[in-house]
Amino acid sequence: MKLCIIGTGYVGLVSAACFAEMGNTVTCVDVNPAVVEKLNAGSVHIFEPGLEPMVRHSRADGRLTFTTKLEDGIAQADCAFICVGTPPQPDGSCDLSFVRQVASEIGQYMQKDMVVVDKSTVPVGTADEVRGLIEKELTKRGVNLHVDVVSNPEFLKEGDAISDFMKPDRVVIGTDSEKAATVMRELYAPFARNRDKIIVMGVRSAEMTKYAANCMLATKISFINEIATICERVGADVRDVRTGIGSDSRIGYQFIYPGVGYGGSCFPKDVKALIRTAENAGVRPELLNAVEAVNARQKKHMASRVEEYFAPQGGVAGKTLAMWGLAFKANTDDMREAAAITIINELTSKGMKIRAFDPVAADNARSIFADNKLVEIVEDQYDTCQGAQGLMVVTEWNQFRNPDFARVRSLLTAPLLFDGRNLYSPSSMADHGFAYFCIGRANA
Ligand code: UDX
Repeated sequence: MKLCIIGTGYVGLVSAACFAEMGNTVTCVDVNPAVVEKLNAGSVHIFEPGLEPMVRHSRADGRLTFTTKLEDGIAQADCAFICVGTPPQPDGSCDLSFVRQVASEIGQYMQKDMVVVDKSTVPVGTADEVRGLIEKELTKRGVNLHVDVVSNPEFLKEGDAISDFMKPDRVVIGTDSEKAATVMRELYAPFARNRDKIIVMGVRSAEMTKYAANCMLATKISFINEIATICERVGADVRDVRTGIGSDSRIGYQFIYPGVGYGGSCFPKDVKALIRTAENAGVRPELLNAVEAVNARQKKHMASRVEEYFAPQGGVAGKTLAMWGLAFKANTDDMREAAAITIINELTSKGMKIRAFDPVAADNARSIFADNKLVEIVEDQYDTCQGAQGLMVVTEWNQFRNPDFARVRSLLTAPLLFDGRNLYSPSSMADHGFAYFCIGRANA
């Protein structure tokens, strides 16, 4: 099939690489000439394990090309994917201006009947709006072409995006057109050899499915984080509680790891957007509001524990905290809505110095904290500890799981460890001689 993918961000580029891998001919369009130039030179502008070799290989075979000109990509395409950003607006709703702009351009340049796919996360009703915008342009041109607009939300996790795309749990396709459903089934058949994985439903239900999935996962995280906070106060250990409840197959073990609060480009934005959608529809979203409030509190939780610890020693001002991990989760350079930002802002606002390390997100972090003189980002995880009064782990990178604790101890002025991801066992930390604070367990 001939595909045109508009937007070479995270979703667009991963989709393009995976579709090209299966033999489709894919033209990617991006308005940013620097990004297109880089991709045409064979390098990838986002960090995602496995993506760059895949892009190189399909590019070399001629199945994957990049351009800034939408008209070139759209002319011969059977199917166009809208994968542009939908950034949050100050009120939490999605900014759809890029989606609308692309829809109008598709209408201006399409040369044959097409299926247009909304892959960007968009509020319910957007596919209908996109179809309206395309048809308006077709009418202006006076051409008689047919367009079906399909909702096909993505469920990719950063860091696992390639395997999520190649072996999806499900492929959700929202359309009322049997013809469009057949095209989409054909396109996804190689990824979902078990046809049961392809779920066809109405367009609005598909749009809603994306929000419901992310909000359900965010709810699980806020739930376990609230349980963890209660555990800390009542002398229970949330790790045991997690194992205890996860063994019930109705609950399951996944996505109930307590931590520093959820971040990233999806959960915070999607929870806010669904809150707005609910309010606009006259529904008071009590649960979603609580999910968001608990997460905001959780992002500050570890900073509060540091402040409580240092309160008897004159507070955190002038003291230095080493920090391991800045990205919102492991295996990504993404700092969007990362808990590290909240923790650092909380502690530096009280005068604490932070010396941090992240294996991949350091450059992004440097630009975020460029104006904060109390933040230093260093190149080695152990350098963070030199002369610091304690260490905090914020992101669960594998290289932090089994570090040289004797070395950490010798570098810190005191053996003090705040573990925002519950990477270590309290008993082994006691053996190493650390005062150890983790999530969901009373103080060491
Ligand atoms: C998420 C969804 O998982 C994915 O399906 C969707 O397409 C995009 O949004 P992503 O944002 O890449 O993916 O990250 P994910 O792995 O889901 O983690 C989100 C946040 O929740 C991270 O901050 C992570 O640290 C946190 N988290 C996750 C927890 O705190 N506990 C958990 O048990 C799981």
